[in-house]
Amino acid sequence: MDIKAPRGVRDILPDESWRWAYVLDVTAKTMADFGHSEIHLPIFEQTELFSRGVGDTTDIVEKEMYSFTDRGGRGITLRPEATAGMVRSAVEHGLCAQGAASRLWCWGPMFRYERPQKGRYRQFFQIDVETLGLAGAVADIEVIALSAEIFRRLGLKNLEVVLNSVGCPKCRPIYREKLLAHFLTNKDKLCKDCLLRLDRNPLRLLDCKEPGCGAVADAAPAIYDCLCDECAAHFEDVQNGLNTLGFRYKLDKRLVRGLDYYTKTAYEILSGDLGAQNAVCGGGRYDNLSESVGGPHLPGVGFAAGVDRILLVMEEQRCSFGKSLKKEVYVVAQDDTPAVRNAALSLTHKLRMEGIPVEQDAGDALGKKRSAKAQMKSADNAGVAWACIVSQDEAQKIVVVMKNMTTGEQTTVQPEEVARRVKEA
Ligand code: HAM
Repeated sequence: MDIKAPRGVRDILPDESWRWAYVLDVTAKTMADFGHSEIHLPIFEQTELFSRGVGDTTDIVEKEMYSFTDRGGRGITLRPEATAGMVRSAVEHGLCAQGAASRLWCWGPMFRYERPQKGRYRQFFQIDVETLGLAGAVADIEVIALSAEIFRRLGLKNLEVVLNSVGCPKCRPIYREKLLAHFLTNKDKLCKDCLLRLDRNPLRLLDCKEPGCGAVADAAPAIYDCLCDECAAHFEDVQNGLNTLGFRYKLDKRLVRGLDYYTKTAYEILSGDLGAQNAVCGGGRYDNLSESVGGPHLPGVGFAAGVDRILLVMEEQRCSFGKSLKKEVYVVAQDDTPAVRNAALSLTHKLRMEGIPVEQDAGDALGKKRSAKAQMKSADNAGVAWACIVSQDEAQKIVVVMKNMTTGEQTTVQPEEVARRVKEA
């Protein structure tokens, strides 16, 4: 076939999808333990939500969004992230009305037109967590602890939490000026992109991966001396809370994140087993995001973890994915008489109604029935615990030979007995 999946997107095939289900199961339980409720958001939103929310000088908005005009002439964008949508939804539905707090989570595909490489795709999946309506550092600590706990339960090792504060609109402009002056005196060492970004957003230069820019960024002043009293106290409270919980983290003055809505806390969790795209999770506080998209004041803090990357790390580290969902029984029709075929069909359905995973022979691509021998071969390949061979005895009665596929032992039973015997085994 000439038609392939578009560049940067992947199919999650059956031998992989059960691992995704495991990660999401563990995640859902952890969310419940931390008091976060699941919410389902639309895959596309009005473009303005992201241009105003995420920031129109960010790479995401400038270069990476899948935007189009719909048939009604509306500007629409496939969500590149979930935070802006979460805030939009909470405001639209009054989830934080009268000062209430909302702890939410969601998961699903996000879309960014990035250069595909290992761990970086154009459609990727995020687990997204947001706590809305709380301004204090406890909410930041809870959110960071929640992300770390999901990874702990999944068995991920070799992770590093990096933490920073990006200040607020009161103190960041002072830092911005200091930073601008530093980069201007080192202008000759900066890459083309950084020179373009210099005036619009000098903080973004701290993030540049080019070695020349990296050296200049390393020597840049840290934000800590510029933080206003409120931001400095918040930063200290977050660190004290993490220390109380015994979390290890590293302060990184160059951590600025690629989205413009952050205020105060910014953090990432990095994996030593991912190569260049090493962030399994990123997040922070965004106290002004709601206002920037036309909503009321609504402080928030959250994170998003990349499911694709979590899976890569888990596979690399040979983490456990629990048990794969294997079929337990394969029903084989001994011959092609209507009585035997119907009995095999009924047995399959009854076992499924009992919650037993069953596969049966359903013919081939040409609609032809397959021989009992061919069906037994399929039972072998399916790796089932039991093959149940349905036939008629001399008295024309339907009987089932249950073959234990591990020991090879065979027992002849009535069809009604099969479910009990499978369950008891
Ligand atoms: P982000 O850092 O852009 O933050 O993305 C969060 C995580 O999504 C990354 O750490 C990474 O694991 C995964 N990710 C991002 N882009 C890709 C990609 N192209 N391919 C595979 N995985 C990717 C946000 O999206 C914020 N909304 C996080 C947040 C929530 N902040 C506060 N609340």
